[in-house]
Order: sequence, then structure tokens, then C-alpha cells
Amino acid sequence: MILVTGGAGYIGSQFVRYYTRCRPTEKVVVLDNLVEGHLEALDGLSNVHFERADIGDFENVKNILSKHRIDAVVHFASYCYVGESQENPSKYYQNNVAGSISLFRAMEECQVGKLVFSSSCATYGVPVQELINEEHPQNPINVYGLTKLLIEKILTGYADTKDWSFTALRYFNAAGADKSGLVGESHDPETHIIPLALKTALGTKEVLQIFGDDYDTPDGSCIRDYIHVEDLAAAHLLALDKLPTQKGGQFINLGTAYGASVKEIVDVCEQVSGKKISHTFSPRRKGDPARLIADASKAASYLGWKPQHDLRSIVETAWNWETKKRY
Ligand code: UFG
Repeated sequence: MILVTGGAGYIGSQFVRYYTRCRPTEKVVVLDNLVEGHLEALDGLSNVHFERADIGDFENVKNILSKHRIDAVVHFASYCYVGESQENPSKYYQNNVAGSISLFRAMEECQVGKLVFSSSCATYGVPVQELINEEHPQNPINVYGLTKLLIEKILTGYADTKDWSFTALRYFNAAGADKSGLVGESHDPETHIIPLALKTALGTKEVLQIFGDDYDTPDGSCIRDYIHVEDLAAAHLLALDKLPTQKGGQFINLGTAYGASVKEIVDVCEQVSGKKISHTFSPRRKGDPARLIADASKAASYLGWKPQHDLRSIVETAWNWETKKRY
């Protein structure tokens, strides 16, 4: 049986939904403290056992691992606001790093040595090449990225000393929503460009700020590689299935290799919603590199993964969710 930490969060719950769709006879244990997660994200899933717990609660996690005879962990639980991590680094070190160490210690005691970890392209920092592959130097420029890098290193230590097999999946910009429209992105406060653009289309946000129009990009706005959450979910299942035959750690980018500018996002959001998105240009946001685009060839060769959703489909599913948002 697998344990999914952060399984009531945006990406974690999408993975749980995908897993139970693909493996309808298997049960999943979801561990979430519901600080950022939403119990409603698990609505309609019958094969899920929910445990409200914190990854840092060592005794509790140990009991959950042994009670459910867990043999692999998919570890999503994390704080993930780049801006907040700069203002309150201790919160991120405590939850993301110390919490993960506590989880790993519980896994070690229960002899669970298989794990898929949610890492991030934020571990790379400012790109030194057009397409970022897994060998790109890792020099994070914010605390959030640093916490993800530290956890990758800690896991490497477990692989070297305790024979763990793990895969760290480095996501680019997660976006979109489940095609059912039942689950999707719900952050408070929301800081991500696609939900903010769609809220502006809906009229629940007055004006969208575009941070910077003087970048060295064709239209002057920042370029990112947006990847649909369902594609992320599919990659996790492929990575999980590889673990029993995998030795040590693997690090894999998850992106589409297609970069979309902020202005392009606004255009696609206008097309999909059929509404004008009122926007202004503001100064650059601190810590935003001009472009972040994945070389996703390792995900294809190692996992046999190929994203199924393009930008249009990302925005369509996000719009479907935003217009009937339940939580
Ligand atoms: N942007 C705007 N206006 C907004 C919000 C964002 O112009 O109101 C721009 C940003 O400046 C950036 C782009 O839209 O150029 C994307 O910004 P997001 O906030 O949507 O996403 P980020 O690229 O900042 O962050 C994402 C994930 C992080 C991850 C990071 C890796 O949310 O978890 O990618 O770089 F760490």
C-alpha cells in the first residue's frame, strides 16, 4: 500500500485521483494536516483512507506506516510560496526540511525505503542555458528552492547508506485542473498567474498585474513552462512503478519544453473565457528569471512519459474549475 503525504493538496490530490482511477482495486492512505490541503479534494474517492496528521509528528507517522503496512511513499507535503519563503525562511526550513527528515526517520524505522518526491525547477536558480536539463547547476535563489534541494541531498544520503530507491521529480509550473471540474487549484492567497488571470476574467479580481515587460524575451514578459497537474500525476505513477527495480536516486524534470510568456497566458485566458482581462504592467517581481523551460527528455526516456495537455487544455480545465470552484 502507498502513503501519499500532502494528498489533499493541489497536486497531491490530483495524483490520488489519478492513482485510484488507474488502480481501482488498490487502496491509498492520504496523510495531510489540512493546513494548505482541502478535504473536499478527496470527495468521491472510495479507496482512500484519510489520516489527518503532520509529516513532522514522528510517532503518529510511524504508527500510520506500520498500521497500513506501507511499502512506498509519495511525498508532496510542503509549503510552496516562493515569496513567503523569503519572508519567513524558518517556516519553510521547519515544515519542508525538518518535517521531511522526521518522515524519513519514521520510514527508516519502519523499513520503508521507496519514495517519490515532489521537487522543483526552483532548485536550479537562474538558468545558464536555454533548456534546463537535470545536469544544470543547482543554485537556488530562494529559500523554497533551497528546501527542495536540501531534501534531494538528504534522500541521496539515504540511498547511499540505506539502499533507498527514490525519484525526485522537478516540476516546472504546475497548472490546470482535473477534467471532472471537481478538483483544482485553491490557494489562499492565490499568487499564480493562470488562476489570477481567470479570476480577472470572472470579475472576482479587478486588474491583473503583469510583473515586468522589459525582459529579454520576444514580448518582454517572463516565459515559463506550464505543465498540467494530470500529466504530473501520471509521471508520479510511472516513477512509483519503477522504484522496485531502481537502484538509488533519480532526478527528473517534468515540463513540456514549451515556454509561454505571461502575455501569451493572458491571450489564451481571454480566448478560453471569452472575456477581456483587464491588466496593467508593474515592475519586475524580485527573484523572477526571464525564462524557465524544461528539457524533459529524461522523463520521456527513463519513465516513458509524455505530457498529454497543451497550454490551451491547461487553461480550459483551469477555467472549468474556476467557474464552478467548490473550495
Ligand atoms: N506573474 C505576473 N503577475 C501575477 C503573478 C505572476 O505577471 O500576478 C508572472 C510572474 O512574474 C512569472 C509568471 O507569471 O513570470 C509565473 O508566475 P507564478 O507565480 O504563476 O509561478 P512561478 O514561476 O513564480 O512559480 C512556480 C511555482 C513555484 C516554483 C516555481 C519555480 O509556483 O512553486 O514555479 O520557478 F518554485
